[in-house]
Amino acid sequence: MTEIVTAKTAGYCFGVRQAVDIAEKAAEKRGTVYTLGQLIHNNDAVERLREHGVIPVNDPTEAEGSIIIRSHGAPRSVYDRIAELGLECIDATCPYVARIHKLVDEHSRDGSDTLVVGDRKHPEVIGIMGFANGEIRAVDSGEELDELVKSDKTFGTKLLNVVVQTTFDMCKWTDLQKKIKKHYTNVKIFDTICRATIERQTEAAALSQQCDAMVVIGGAHSSNSAKLARICAESCRVFFTENAGQLVREHKDSLKRLLSSANDVKIGITAGASTPAYIIKEVHNIMSEIIKDEAVDAEFMAAIDQMPRVRAYAGNRVKATVVAVNKTEAVVDIGIKQSGYIPAEELSANPNLSPEDVVKVGDVIDCIVTKVNDADGFVYLSKKQVDAQAGMEKIIKAKDENATVNGTVTAVVKGGVIVTSEDGARVFVPASQSGVPRNGKLEDILKKEVGFKVIEVNEGRGRVVGSIKAADREATDAVKAKFWEELEVGKKFVGEVKSMESYGVFVDLGGVDGMVHLTELTWNRVKHPKEVVSVGDKLEVTVKSFDPEKKRVSLTAKKPEDNPWTKFMNEFAEGDVVKVQVVSITPFGAFAQIIPGVDGLIHISQISLERVTDVSKVLSVGQIVEAKITEIDEEKSRVSLSIKALLEEGGDEEEAPAEE
Ligand code: F3S
Repeated sequence: MTEIVTAKTAGYCFGVRQAVDIAEKAAEKRGTVYTLGQLIHNNDAVERLREHGVIPVNDPTEAEGSIIIRSHGAPRSVYDRIAELGLECIDATCPYVARIHKLVDEHSRDGSDTLVVGDRKHPEVIGIMGFANGEIRAVDSGEELDELVKSDKTFGTKLLNVVVQTTFDMCKWTDLQKKIKKHYTNVKIFDTICRATIERQTEAAALSQQCDAMVVIGGAHSSNSAKLARICAESCRVFFTENAGQLVREHKDSLKRLLSSANDVKIGITAGASTPAYIIKEVHNIMSEIIKDEAVDAEFMAAIDQMPRVRAYAGNRVKATVVAVNKTEAVVDIGIKQSGYIPAEELSANPNLSPEDVVKVGDVIDCIVTKVNDADGFVYLSKKQVDAQAGMEKIIKAKDENATVNGTVTAVVKGGVIVTSEDGARVFVPASQSGVPRNGKLEDILKKEVGFKVIEVNEGRGRVVGSIKAADREATDAVKAKFWEELEVGKKFVGEVKSMESYGVFVDLGGVDGMVHLTELTWNRVKHPKEVVSVGDKLEVTVKSFDPEKKRVSLTAKKPEDNPWTKFMNEFAEGDVVKVQVVSITPFGAFAQIIPGVDGLIHISQISLERVTDVSKVLSVGQIVEAKITEIDEEKSRVSLSIKALLEEGGDEEEAPAEE
């Protein structure tokens, strides 16, 4: 049975399609636009575009009004020339090519040399070379590289930046990189081959290995189509054609001979980046005619039969199978001959996600047709719009249930922010509901993931209003409720000191503040909390008591293992004589420190053998005296000291307290 297989990556690449789109829109608006050179390397397509008012010219002086730079790009001097002539410049340079311009410009600003791997006569390479600030050369092969190394001994000796033509042959590029590294020691290589090209070449190589012949469709001047033909020729016979007519005129007989040579013949079709989908379709049709094989006709007719079932018109909802994904778009099959494209911005409402994060090859997704371009045979679709519809249903449900919806802040707008829900619904959050303080900046929450409550839904206008503040409040309340539920005496926390008063500090325990009284900060005697902590410090605290009604928590930062009383009890006993330092004077006596954290009282009656009426006349703060421990009250943690007892024991040797 004879079989025809069309490569999924055949035809327009992203850059060419973008350029065609730009040109068509510009022609629609202005009547006529000019392109500097042929917009694409396909005569049929160029003629079709000409009918729509897109006219190729060879020099900017031939243009009037505006001129389009095609996807290949152009040297910087061309942009200058266009500006000098006062023409409007419509830049349709493919973003992948523009990236090379930027790389070459930026990396050669220090005067370092640049090597372009590619065909120096190709417009893309000519354009790239026009962005270098230092020396720049182009080589197309290992031989050309050897020649360059031999003839120019100074080129690339300091630093060599290397870029490659987007459509360059992958295998040749791999070999050339090795050679470049051998010849040049200080080299920065940027792999700028376009992924669309890699994918197309890889698929063509694989398909040609399974086929008896490949039909490669492309313009005579299209280098990427010529490369495809070379790749395919390594595995099977190749018929190179620009369109269906040329295939019939030049290859019909050869094809017929091939078909009659065996029973089971498999023929593949691929096409260069400048080949419109309608030409691929025409070639497929003609192939079927040529084959005149019942089985093939049946297959083709079945495909035709399918077409009316999937109707591609704007607004129609269809099922699409993802056949390729790259950084800028997803290519989908919607069951018709036209290729379907979902640009990155139509895949997801979340700008933080790339197409590869949203879909993968083989996924079957619901989409809405946004545009059908009959000229190039493409169908443009949106997954985001389908998601947004589903998202709206979930939003309404969330409002009814007062549920919190998660989303990402995607834009700052007048009076608030836009939050895009995980399901793609756009929700306006007024500044007052954003949770950003009055003097804060809304930009600070841009791209942040947030939860919000739905406070208003207007289905008719598709308007949803939300409140991040309400969701935050609910979350905080939930945290607090859990805190009180789980709180118990003895529970330990590590919290931040939020504020300080003369009587203690307030510590954040995770949404609820607790208080550590001055006397609970340390075992030592301190007059102000600032002697031991600062606001912002992390403090290890234990719950002493709490009152859920009054929302009060009393904490202690004292640790039992540091308790000086335990140390005192281990080291001292009643009757011991100790050297102590007077720390305070009261009318009834003086307190003196025995060890840090344990003070004893020298009662007024125990200071001297004489009767003392004013303690301050006999003792002063800071004075060190010798005293006897006369009583230890373990229960009340109190120590009584006596100087008098020592004096009595020592007879009348000393009348006054010892002083250091
Ligand atoms: Fe651009 Fe790649 Fe096409 S570089 S023009 S998308 S082949």
